[in-house]
Amino acid sequence: MSEMSVSDMNAPPTDAEKARARKRFDHLCQRGTAFLGTEYAILGGAMSWVSERHLVSAISNAGGFGVIACGAMQPERLAEEIAATRALTDRPFGVNLITMHPQLDDLVQVCLQAGVGHIVLAGGIPPAAAIKAAKDGGAKVIGFAPALVLAKRLIKMGVDALVIEGAEAGGHVGPVSLTVLAQEILPYIDQVPVFVAGGLGRGDALLSYLEQGASGGQLGTRFAAAAESIAHEKFKQIFVRANARDAVTSVQLDERFPVIPVRGLANEGSRRFLVHQAEVIERFRSGDVTREEAQLEIEHFWAGALRRAVIDGDVENGSVMAGQSVGMVKAVQPVAEIISDLVEQAVVALVRQQRRMDCNG
Ligand SMILES: Cc1cc2nc3c(=O)[nH]c(=O)nc-3n(C[C@H](O)[C@H](O)[C@H](O)COP(=O)(O)O)c2cc1C
Repeated sequence: MSEMSVSDMNAPPTDAEKARARKRFDHLCQRGTAFLGTEYAILGGAMSWVSERHLVSAISNAGGFGVIACGAMQPERLAEEIAATRALTDRPFGVNLITMHPQLDDLVQVCLQAGVGHIVLAGGIPPAAAIKAAKDGGAKVIGFAPALVLAKRLIKMGVDALVIEGAEAGGHVGPVSLTVLAQEILPYIDQVPVFVAGGLGRGDALLSYLEQGASGGQLGTRFAAAAESIAHEKFKQIFVRANARDAVTSVQLDERFPVIPVRGLANEGSRRFLVHQAEVIERFRSGDVTREEAQLEIEHFWAGALRRAVIDGDVENGSVMAGQSVGMVKAVQPVAEIISDLVEQAVVALVRQQRRMDCNG
């Protein structure tokens, strides 16, 4: 055992220690940064209504990789958003397209014509034709892999990188946590870079996944509350006040009427959603509505609800999508500060790791 005491272990890192740790961090991120063309292997996960020109350009200008959320935008609107983002940054950024969009092919063409280098295809296994069109047009394609078999299938289909998103994330989520997904997928996939998402709030956590073989991380919740985010002040303030346990997934009352799991802050809207489901199911039982009508009524409950929360600031009735990482949103911070905090936390964690190794000889 060396001479180093516990207080030495926790002493502030020296510049030399930090420089060495930073080199190691950059090395761990190298595949991700090379793929994205950025300084940091940190993606701003696309968030409908939130990930528009201001936040996307702020993330890219800070050395991360901003991603526009196309959501339900029409092709002309997307073209406009890409051009407006380009006017605010000369750094790389991507566009997230939802595979169910009826004009997916047109949207891919809009991205290609605008010279977007990375297209993220979200919302299920993307059609092979969309992957091919994007790649033929010179873009790199990023897909979401919710399981190892799907990761392998997406790679066979030609995707250039994967995001694995755990159930801790905000928005639409799968059932499996990032801790488990990472173990299921990272040791077996090295053909393409894999970025992890869901529940990342600190650099130490990002570091642990890089050490498991991830090429970088994707964050949503922390950026939604950033100073540059156009989300309503009330939306940001409720993020600052919330704890991890407040970010819950939507509850389905009856197995005959599926509810897509969405993680967000519990509020009056989520409580009324339960009552709404119960009422609709009762009307179905009494024969007032068909099963299809009942399902539609349940689905329509949240129509426009994310916009209501993000843009209008109705955080009581709207859909306040947020990940469990919301507990780590302590203030409304500029994007550059969020990113530099993440990097600093990873670097400090590496310094401590090095000291422990030195200490153990
Ligand atoms: C408000 C909000 C809206 C989101 N909307 C989308 C979306 O439109 N498309 C998408 O692929 N992911 C969406 N996500 C998920 C993010 O892109 C990202 O993967 C996720 O937030 C990462 O987990 P974290 O929230 O713990 O950082 C959304 C997340 C939030 C918080």
